[in-house]
Amino acid sequence: MTQPKSRIASRITAPLVVAGLAVLLGACGNSNRQNSLDPKGPAAEKIDNLFIPILFVAIVIGVLVIGATVVMAIKFRQRGGQPGNPKQIHGHTALEIGWTIVPALILAVVAVPTVATIWDLAERPTGPDVLKVQADGSQWWWQFELPNQPMVPQASAPVKGNSATGPVLTSTELHIPVGVKVDVALNSEDVIHSFWVPELAGKKDVMPARTNHVTIEASKPGTFLGACAEYCGLSHADMRFRVIAQPMNEWKAWLADISGPPAQPYTGAIQELTTNTYQCTNCHVFDNVHTINYGPNLTHLGTRSTFAGGTYEVNRKNLMRWVQDAPSMIAMQSTKCRIQPPPPGVICTGMPSFTKNTPPGAKVMTTEDAATIVDYLLKEK
Ligand code: CUA
Repeated sequence: MTQPKSRIASRITAPLVVAGLAVLLGACGNSNRQNSLDPKGPAAEKIDNLFIPILFVAIVIGVLVIGATVVMAIKFRQRGGQPGNPKQIHGHTALEIGWTIVPALILAVVAVPTVATIWDLAERPTGPDVLKVQADGSQWWWQFELPNQPMVPQASAPVKGNSATGPVLTSTELHIPVGVKVDVALNSEDVIHSFWVPELAGKKDVMPARTNHVTIEASKPGTFLGACAEYCGLSHADMRFRVIAQPMNEWKAWLADISGPPAQPYTGAIQELTTNTYQCTNCHVFDNVHTINYGPNLTHLGTRSTFAGGTYEVNRKNLMRWVQDAPSMIAMQSTKCRIQPPPPGVICTGMPSFTKNTPPGAKVMTTEDAATIVDYLLKEK
C-alpha cells in the first residue's frame, strides 16, 4: 500500500515542529536563570557529576535503539508484490536472554553511583560552621528563619511566637554566607510544597507535620533563583524565592541590619491604619522581626528586592497596587476575607483586596492611606 506524498510530508513535519518548539521552550527556561545544568555549589555539582555521565550512556542507548528501529522499519518494510509479514522470530532463547541481561547489567552499573550520591546528599552536615535555617512553605510564599546569633549553633529548635531574641524572620529572600554549609529544615504550614534552587541543590518535598532537610551551599557570591516544585494550588507558579549568597562579612552585616527594630517607629498614623482601619495586623507584623504571624513578616520589607512570592520587584508602584488590590496581581482565594472570622464556606487563602469585594462595614482603601502604608514599608532600609 502506498501513501500519498502529503501524508508522508506531514509525518516528517510534525516531529520537526515539536522539536523546534522544545528548543524554543528550552530558551524560555534559560531566561529565568534556573539552570540545573549550571551547578554553583557542591550539592548541585554532585548531582551534575552523576547526571552528565548517565545522560551520555542514555544518549548512546537511545541512538542505538532508535537507529535500529529505523533500520528495521526500512529494511523489513512491506514491498509491493510480497506476502504480508516478514519472517517471524519467536522463542529465540539466546536473543531473549541477551536483551534481558544487558539492560539489567547497565541499570546495575548506573545504580552504583546513583545510590552513593543519594546517600551522600541525604547526609546532614554537622559542626559549628554549619548554618541552620528553617524554611516554611505556605500558600504561596516562603518564610525563612535564621538564628539570631550568626554562626552559633542553636541548642534547641527555634522559638516560635512573640519574642525579642528568637530567630530572625524574613520571607522570599534567604541570604546565606558563601562557602558555608546551610542545613535547611523544611516544613509546610498547609499543603505539600517542594524547595528547589536548581543551581545549588536538588528538589526536596516540604511536608506538613514532618521536617525534611536539604543542604545548600554556594561556592561563589550570587543570586540563585528558587521555586516551589510541587503543584500546591492556584498560585503555585508564583511561589518563588531567591537565595542570595554573600561573603561572610557582608552576610553578618545584613543579618545584624535586619535583626533590629524598624527604622521608623511603628506608631501614630501607620499603626492606626494597619491595625484598626485595615486590620493588616491580622496576618502581618510590621515592627518586630522575631514575631511570627499568618502572613509574611513585613519588618524591613524595604531591604528585599522582591515580594509576593518573588514575583514582583519591591518598588513604590508595585506596592501601591499590591496593598490596594493584591488579588489582581496574583490569583488568590481571598474574596470577602477582610472581616474575621470569614463568612461560612469562604476559603481565605492569600491577601484580600482592599478596594474590591469589600465586605459591609470594611473601609475601602484610599490612595492616600495606601501611600502612607507603602512609604512606611519602603523606609525600612
Ligand atoms: Cu508551593 Cu507549589
